[in-house]
Amino acid sequence: MLDTTCFPKAVKFWHRGKIHPWNDLTLHTMTHALHYGTSTFEGIRAYESAQGPMIFRLPEHIDRFFVSAGVLKMSVPYTKEEVTEAIKLVVRENGLQSCYIRPLFYYSYGNLGLIPKASPPELLIGAWEWTSYMGEEALGGTQAFISPWRRIHHSQLDMRAKLGGVYVQSTIAGLEARAHGADEALFLNIEGRVAEGPGENLFIVKNGGIKTNDRTESILEGITRTSILEIAADLGIPTSIGPISIDDLSGADEAFFTGTAVEVVPVARLIDGSDRSAPQRELAIGGGRPGPVTMKLRQAYMDIVRGKNQKYERWLTPVK
Ligand SMILES: Cc1ncc(COP(=O)(O)O)c(C=O)c1O
Repeated sequence: MLDTTCFPKAVKFWHRGKIHPWNDLTLHTMTHALHYGTSTFEGIRAYESAQGPMIFRLPEHIDRFFVSAGVLKMSVPYTKEEVTEAIKLVVRENGLQSCYIRPLFYYSYGNLGLIPKASPPELLIGAWEWTSYMGEEALGGTQAFISPWRRIHHSQLDMRAKLGGVYVQSTIAGLEARAHGADEALFLNIEGRVAEGPGENLFIVKNGGIKTNDRTESILEGITRTSILEIAADLGIPTSIGPISIDDLSGADEAFFTGTAVEVVPVARLIDGSDRSAPQRELAIGGGRPGPVTMKLRQAYMDIVRGKNQKYERWLTPVK
């Protein structure tokens, strides 16, 4: 039996058009993507609501999934409708009320040259209960370690795509951040301004307004980010988009991460490890505690994903 400690309530997965028991092993060790990171994925969440499980912004995730596959030059053998239905099926088959959903397109088995000429693209989908990405204690304010590794630049790779190989950089930076005692890493871009977390976007709050950056700063423009910009505008919170410097961040009243996994989490303290030749600096953002704008937006977001705000029901897709 496979250990499912980190995949609570996962009992089945979808692979190549079929549902399999979780313990089935259906991949060959010479799978192209395993060797070269030639895969692309989505991270999607479903939440329990009064009307049953609802998937948050599923069409937007599906669209991005296919954009990513295009960047990897994949001719995927499924339509958007087929992937949508397969995702809903996986949630139903696992009997999950709220969960994290992971679809992955990957170059499969056939050859191991860098060009996957005999390794056709395939799809797998898993789902399991994944409550809080950074733990409940993160709501008390996280500490971010500003990584010495600069985020891959948007002139080097199409950063709209969630490519498997790109996440090697995220994993390394995330491990280093934790080795420094921080909760998460934060990348600067090649220009030396704030880019994003390994799997999160960053917002700052100043004088009651929120600000985040865009893809020209070498980030993935997350679906949570876009949602928060819309929710904030509806709440009358001023929003702006533009470059963010380290000084903007350390001088902000508040800061927070957004992402499907992390949802909305306050960033209250920083360790600046960006310059390898200089001693690391510890900085507090605002009072070094979560601030009111962050927590208001988090509450609004959590209500919306759980179907408690009728205005945003259009963002929810039922599983049944
Ligand atoms: C690098 C990166 N940036 C930002 C995000 C946030 O994106 P989203 O809100 O669509 O989950 C993610 C997560 O998908 C990510 O991997």
